[in-house]
Amino acid sequence: MVGNGSSVSSNKSTPVFFQPGDEQTLDLVRQWIYAHTGLYYPTDKLPLLAQRLKAVCRELRIPDLSTLYQFLKDGNRPDLALELAQAVSTNHTYFFRELENIKFFQQRIIPTLPSVERWRIWSGACASGEEVYTLAIVLAETLGMDWARRKGAILGTDISPAMIELAERGVYHYHKLQPIPEALRQKYFRPVGLGQWQVKPELQEWCVFRRLNLVSKPWPFKNRFHVVLLRNVLYYFDNEVRREVVERAYDTTAPGGWLVTSVTESLRNINTRWTWVRPGIYRKSGGK
Ligand SMILES: C[S@@+](CC[C@H](N)C(=O)[O-])C[C@H]1O[C@@H](n2cnc3c(N)ncnc32)[C@H](O)[C@@H]1O
Repeated sequence: MVGNGSSVSSNKSTPVFFQPGDEQTLDLVRQWIYAHTGLYYPTDKLPLLAQRLKAVCRELRIPDLSTLYQFLKDGNRPDLALELAQAVSTNHTYFFRELENIKFFQQRIIPTLPSVERWRIWSGACASGEEVYTLAIVLAETLGMDWARRKGAILGTDISPAMIELAERGVYHYHKLQPIPEALRQKYFRPVGLGQWQVKPELQEWCVFRRLNLVSKPWPFKNRFHVVLLRNVLYYFDNEVRREVVERAYDTTAPGGWLVTSVTESLRNINTRWTWVRPGIYRKSGGK
């Protein structure tokens, strides 16, 4: 039984399954996840997948892996698909992550942004919102809050509805605010009790969050972006999905626009139109 913790071991070297015979079902679920989210679980990560599926079964009171797969195939349990999307991905994130590229955004990207009515900035795997609020703070520090809000349109999307809900609430435990310089913490957050701090309304009302699966087609955007961030999400895709996502990001970016990945997520082995600028920074040709 899935609910029986003893049937899943944490031995990393060999894949482990819920019970004898579940290997094939686990593989089918793995394929479903790949087809619907682009997240690729290699064989050595199957124990992790098994653990995560076990938690989903427990949460949704699904008795075993075969029933879970049957629900996925039938497509009549949207709650399961959403829960699964949440459970099988890693949501770790923090404010001012990879500071060198946040500085690059402020010092080198912002000055190149065109004189259009609004700069459109999109974080395509925003998790619980820290990345998006970091960009908003940087824009506000650079342009002043009023002008930044008028000039910058900031969108955060993620596959996980739970993450989007957290991002919209913008409430974080104090320890998550540690990477933020004290003066900025005081300026952009307010304590809401029990060690929790909330982003101030001017940030919260400004940043927009929506659920979006990067693997879904087509993306629902009418206008192009000037900066796209796909940080710490490309890792989880295989080369084929990675290429497809960054190429679609290229098409949805204005000439001269920018792609920011994590500094360790290289597009080197991928045949892409993006031009490498420095680790984690790519640019589309055209523009100033
Ligand atoms: C490790 S977090 C990265 C958060 C942030 N970008 C950062 O760098 O700190 C990865 C996020 O990617 C999201 N994700 C995974 N697969 C996705 C997909 N197919 N479409 C959209 N988001 C996805 C996860 O839900 C998770 O919140």
